[in-house]
Amino acid sequence: ARPKLLAGRKVVVTAGPTRERIDPVRFLTNFSSGKMGYAMAEAAAEMGAETVLISGPVTLPVPKGVQRIFVESAEDMLNAVNAEYETADVVVKTAAVADYRPIDVHSQKMKKQAGGSTLELERTTDILQHLGKTKTHQLLIGFAAETNDVAHYAKDKLERKNADYIIANDVSEAQAGFESDTNRVTVYGKGGFEQSFEMMPKLELARRLLGLIMEKEDLHDR
Ligand code: PMT
Repeated sequence: ARPKLLAGRKVVVTAGPTRERIDPVRFLTNFSSGKMGYAMAEAAAEMGAETVLISGPVTLPVPKGVQRIFVESAEDMLNAVNAEYETADVVVKTAAVADYRPIDVHSQKMKKQAGGSTLELERTTDILQHLGKTKTHQLLIGFAAETNDVAHYAKDKLERKNADYIIANDVSEAQAGFESDTNRVTVYGKGGFEQSFEMMPKLELARRLLGLIMEKEDLHDR
């Protein structure tokens, strides 16, 4: 059996995309399937954690031993995470959260008109950054989806969002990142820590990632 490195601990994982409504039948979203986040939640539960999975709209089954809370928008996700934050020991932000949402959400279906159209957007709250600012004892693990200069942007997110670890995937690589059953990542931590993992199934990767981080961190010291 695997060591229960997270027994007695509460882990909050976010997964999947968010949807930002334009009108009752349209929304902005991204290609996240939820697979990586659901794998992180499954691995945390296997390691003995009380696991809460805050999920955007996806069609995956709930992993064994995991409590799932469905949300739709970035704002819904922010509120759901905030409600669990104080009692959490570890937060893993795997979700692909929208950075922008429409300023006006139309209450009726928008009609076609002659000529083009412009959608005005505003920034959503950066949930990870907010958690970094309000952190008391929690271990904060972010993901980063990059298409170029992966190491540079991942290290920047580690600093700027006050995360303890950033798990970076180069989503321009085939079979890594969005939708695939496998992923290949590099973990960045404070003090220049860096470790790369080879391509492997998302569940296997999730187990190794949490195993690595929990061996490096003694949560009892926090
Ligand atoms: O779901 P899958 O199909 O399995 O795909 C997995 C994945 C590619 C979505 C996943 O591995 C991944 O990389 N998730 C993070 C995607 C992302 O939004 O990265 P980012 O670099 O834009 O954001 C960096 C971090 O800030 C992330 O932890 C993100 O959750 C967080 N963030 C971003 C914006 C925002 N408004 N709030 C946030 O908390």
